[in-house]
Amino acid sequence: MSDPEFEASIKAGLDAVEEQLRQAVAAADPLVNEAARHLLDAGGKRFRPLLVLAAAQLGDAERDEVVASAVVVELTHLATLYHDDVMDEADVRRGAASANSRWSNSVAILTGDYLFARASDVVADLGPEAVRIQSRTFSRLVTGQIRETAGPLPGVDPVEHYLGVLADKTGSLIATSGRFGAMFSGASAAVVDTLTAYGEAIGVAFQLSDDLLDIESESSGKTPGTDLREGIPTLPVLYALASTDPAEARLRSLVSRPLSDDDEVAEALTLLRASPAMAAARQVVREYADRSRALVASLPDGPAKSALLSLADLVVDRAA
Ligand code: IPE
Ligand code: IPE
Ligand code: MG
Ligand code: MG
Repeated sequence: MSDPEFEASIKAGLDAVEEQLRQAVAAADPLVNEAARHLLDAGGKRFRPLLVLAAAQLGDAERDEVVASAVVVELTHLATLYHDDVMDEADVRRGAASANSRWSNSVAILTGDYLFARASDVVADLGPEAVRIQSRTFSRLVTGQIRETAGPLPGVDPVEHYLGVLADKTGSLIATSGRFGAMFSGASAAVVDTLTAYGEAIGVAFQLSDDLLDIESESSGKTPGTDLREGIPTLPVLYALASTDPAEARLRSLVSRPLSDDDEVAEALTLLRASPAMAAARQVVREYADRSRALVASLPDGPAKSALLSLADLVVDRAA
């Protein structure tokens, strides 16, 4: 981001989002209040609000609905994190103890529900169209999580299945972030559609890079190897499983089942990091990022377009 006025507007928007997030989750009950604040205070990238604010620069970014819609997408995301950590039995989130490990699965599930309720309250002020978009987004997200758990039906290509799951569980909400930013800034219907498609493509790239970070990063604020422990075959694992290279036989035997032994997780991570499957998966991240860049190519040149192009670079670089 190089334009000072643009940068100041985004910064002011993000500050307003933080303030309103804190107000939105405040609860009279001390445990609800503490549990809801827990992951909000722990940090996070605020990628979805940032996308709302960047997209809104294509219209009138100063409208109040822009910040409110950014709060809606972050609250929805935050709620899914509480539930996801229960499903993934994750102990660490945003560099802090997950809610399920700090309290219990019940507290984590109910706090997630509470946050969804708070998101609904905020979105109600944005009108019926926004309510419908948010509820359809959430249905798609949940369907993605269920389809991930179920795995591909017989005869369905596992890579196709996996990419569809990513579009549903992660692309959906990031698409809605682009859409809300454009929509509530009063941009044209064509721009709204462009930002929705951009968000979906960059959202898949974002989840693919998250899956690579689960293998290669020690500093994501989460426990590496969680996907291997859960037996979730992410793209590098699917590529390794499809390989016939005898040198990958040990890796294939490890990743063909959920791993519970710490030494086996460490061994699988070491083998995966050195495997050609990682490079092949990185190439797919680049393809989705390229797709997102191509979608915004038609927008007028300016700081908003530059920021959207840079976001695509960031998503690729974080797992490069
Ligand atoms: C984590 O999302 C879950 C995914 C969809 C990959 P983020 O990577 O945006 O998590 P925070 O908000 O920065 O913690
Ligand atoms: C879950 O994907 C994405 C959501 C929709 C919450 P992951 O299970 O990979 O997310 P992390 O790695 O725990 O953040
Ligand atoms: Mg998870
Ligand atoms: Mg992950």
